[in-house]
Amino acid sequence: MWSSRWLFILAAAGSAVGLGNIWRFPYITGENGGGAFVLVYLICIAAIGVPVMMAEVLLGRAGRQSPINTMRAMARASGAPRAWSLIGWVGVLAGFLILSYYSVVAGWAVHYVFRMGGGAFEGADGAFASQAFADFLADPWQVLGFHTLFMVITVFIVARGVSAGLERAIRVFMPLLFVLLAVLLGYGVASGGFAAGFEFMFRMDWSALTVDGVLEALGHAFFTLSVGMGAIMAYGAYVPRQASIASTVTTIAVLDTAVALAAGLAIFPIVFANGLEPGQGPGLLFVTVPIAFGQLPLGAVFGTAFFVLVSFAAITSAISLTEPALAFAVEEYNAKRSRVAVSLGVICWLLGVGTVLSFNVWADVHVVGELTVFDFLDYVTQKVMLPLGGLFIAVFVGWVLPKTIVGSQLGLREGAATLLWSVLIRVLAPLGVLAVFVYAIFYG
Ligand code: PHE
Repeated sequence: MWSSRWLFILAAAGSAVGLGNIWRFPYITGENGGGAFVLVYLICIAAIGVPVMMAEVLLGRAGRQSPINTMRAMARASGAPRAWSLIGWVGVLAGFLILSYYSVVAGWAVHYVFRMGGGAFEGADGAFASQAFADFLADPWQVLGFHTLFMVITVFIVARGVSAGLERAIRVFMPLLFVLLAVLLGYGVASGGFAAGFEFMFRMDWSALTVDGVLEALGHAFFTLSVGMGAIMAYGAYVPRQASIASTVTTIAVLDTAVALAAGLAIFPIVFANGLEPGQGPGLLFVTVPIAFGQLPLGAVFGTAFFVLVSFAAITSAISLTEPALAFAVEEYNAKRSRVAVSLGVICWLLGVGTVLSFNVWADVHVVGELTVFDFLDYVTQKVMLPLGGLFIAVFVGWVLPKTIVGSQLGLREGAATLLWSVLIRVLAPLGVLAVFVYAIFYG
């Protein structure tokens, strides 16, 4: 019954929908003042994220190997230097760096499964929820423990290679996530915070948007779509020959955006109904959601389910972060999947310790400027590596890869669609990234 096109959509949606949508999108929207930031983010998704994602899927399906070897093969097919495979290598590195802190934050979500289950937030108000989160973060051992737990689960799944089963689970869990976000939305309406939350997200206040905010929106568009580091390219190798790349990618991008907007609409009403600070940073999800569930009937049950779903969404994203490295090691060195998974897990776990400590013991340790270890990893991967990866992918597919390959992959005939695609991949996407970079370097 399962067409491989649908398996790919589920796998790619599993990769795309994750902490980026539920944790990161609301908190950076809060930090960047709402509406104007959201609009720039949506433009980045449509004008840059979607074409680059199509380019990745196209490369993956044409190459049918790990991203590094796919890029080697495609460079060869184009008579271009082998150095284009650097896109694959940088992607592997980005995957390691992202997974190291992704696992720490996912560990927070796992922690909240237990906290909600234990009924810790019954009747909680804003002050209680904020204090509970601060106390948790202040204890490096606890944070480390849940980071470890999350990494062990991820490595276990990656080592066994059971992702086909997970993809089917995504089909059940994704709608459930929407249901629980709708429950939170209901709380928002009942608590009287909805109007303020809605207004915050969709009213354009351009004075609130900084240069760094624009770069943040661009980087997040890549991050949330899992684009720019080869994860989608690796999955693209499994897309069947006859599937339409444009409609497949659009489906995934729409779904991903819907989850992010729903998460924002669920969280900001809680913020305003309880007098919380929208720009409080990475704790936003963990401070708001428990208050709502703490006040709702059966809140402990719903709240536990909510954080189970968030953890699950994080696992399917974490798996995809390992895929470029894993696929390459298996293909190139004939390495055993389980061995590679464990080594990769150990490296990312170790790197993650830096992030764990950056929220407590090392809170005042700055790598550069004001950036803690976590801030630094987040900045380098999300604002530099992913957009740069996306830029080179766009340039490669737009300007280097033979038109015959591109055309046959996309099923393009001459006409309006071809023109739109060329404009997007050759001009808009690369210039968009470049423009934001230049703007951020000179005016940031
Ligand atoms: N897209 C994932 C999220 O939004 C994170 C991710 C980034 C996964 C890059 C894979 C590659 O949570």
